Amino acid sequence: MSTLHRGHIFHLTGSPTVTEAADALVEIPDGALLIDDDGRIEWCGRFGERPQRTGAPVEIVDHGDAFLLPGFVDTHIHFPQVNSIDAYGGGQLLEWLNSCIFPAEARFADAEFAAGAAREFCHRLISAGTTTSLVFGSAFPVAQEALFGEYHKRGLRGVIGRGIQTVGPEAAAPLITGEDDAIRLTREEIERWHPKTPEEANQALVYAAIVPRFSLSVTTRTLAALGELYDHYRDAGVYFTSHLNENNRSGDGEIAAVLELFEVESYLDTYDGRFLPGSKRGGSSLLGRRSVMAHCVHCTDAELARMAEVETSIAHCPNSQLFLGSGTMPWNRTVAAGVNIAAGTDFAAGDSWFMPYVLNTAFKAHISEPEPDGVSLHPAQLLHLGTLAGARALDLEDRIGNFDPGKEADMVVIDPAQWEPLANSLEWGLRADDPVKQTHGRLFTLLMACNEVAVAETYVRGRRLR
Ligand code: GUN
Ligand code: ZN
Repeated sequence: MSTLHRGHIFHLTGSPTVTEAADALVEIPDGALLIDDDGRIEWCGRFGERPQRTGAPVEIVDHGDAFLLPGFVDTHIHFPQVNSIDAYGGGQLLEWLNSCIFPAEARFADAEFAAGAAREFCHRLISAGTTTSLVFGSAFPVAQEALFGEYHKRGLRGVIGRGIQTVGPEAAAPLITGEDDAIRLTREEIERWHPKTPEEANQALVYAAIVPRFSLSVTTRTLAALGELYDHYRDAGVYFTSHLNENNRSGDGEIAAVLELFEVESYLDTYDGRFLPGSKRGGSSLLGRRSVMAHCVHCTDAELARMAEVETSIAHCPNSQLFLGSGTMPWNRTVAAGVNIAAGTDFAAGDSWFMPYVLNTAFKAHISEPEPDGVSLHPAQLLHLGTLAGARALDLEDRIGNFDPGKEADMVVIDPAQWEPLANSLEWGLRADDPVKQTHGRLFTLLMACNEVAVAETYVRGRRLR
């Protein structure tokens, strides 16, 4: 039976870039979304103008004053850090990894522990209204089995890959495998969990990815072998993701270490098949339209141009960047380069599961960029970051990201009554007289002042998960 959801709709129609987002913004205060029994959006519009059906019954779900938004897309989150929020590392990225994260991730070798963590991980995503996620997985097959299984069981949408490490410091030893094992385990995971045919892929909710932790955790031989593996699976729609140009503490930070170790001209070269000294080609590129690079705080113009050229997206994670003192991705320069910018929690360096909180932090980070680069992001751009840009980053824009008819109905219901500061601000806050400005003001307040407790319901492909 088709279902008609009634509520206050916000979404971005069509396929705008972030600079076109404001023109694509749609607000329908007494809106309705007609979803067929396959979970696809048949129609989106004013409740009073809903299509009248003779014969076929339609169930009406009235969400009252609640808002209906496209489900949030988190393009960068770490499964084995599910219990590591606000871990004190006494330093920036590399200290935090060594003292907090590698030991925490080592616990996922225990199947029972990992199964509990997988349940918790999915529960947190659903509670936060995140319907699609790109997940840095565990090094351990038992943990990956639990996570993939849990996504399938719950009906969550996501892309998951085991975290690959073939080299690293002593603290990472439990997470490191031999190079041949790293490739074998990754291949086995893809064979087990990635859809087998194009038809299956078009229907699937869960996909596999190749995920080296970062360049510092793999050797040139591993990078070459991963390139070969990706050559084999690229056309099947397998993804690639890793960290790029995150932490620039002078002298001994992540970026300096990569450039020194590989003797390359740019960090991106290590993922682009040019990982030999002088950026000489040593294998196939891992970049493409199903590749997502997390952070990109300190990219050169050439790196941004290359990502734009190959349609590789950025997972922008401002909460994490603040937490680790990494800086912030330069908004104007990155947008001008034409790279698609999606957003990620980067939990647990990011200290929240909730994508609107990431958008809130993005707003503050970019308005605070040093002159003349400070920019006040438009609320439609914030919505773009949290929804449509994420769908684009995962090459799923033809299926999710907004409420255009034909798409699959991934939706979050936000009920301001469950979070009084939001309800009060929406009800009593001063609004402009101009209706367009009213729309912008309402969306801004909704995204910026929202709290996870206001997430009332979460749907993937029309099916309620919460
Ligand atoms: N770089 C390599 N590993 C990690 C990680 O777990 N978190 C973040 N933020 N950056 C990384
Ligand atoms: Zn990360």
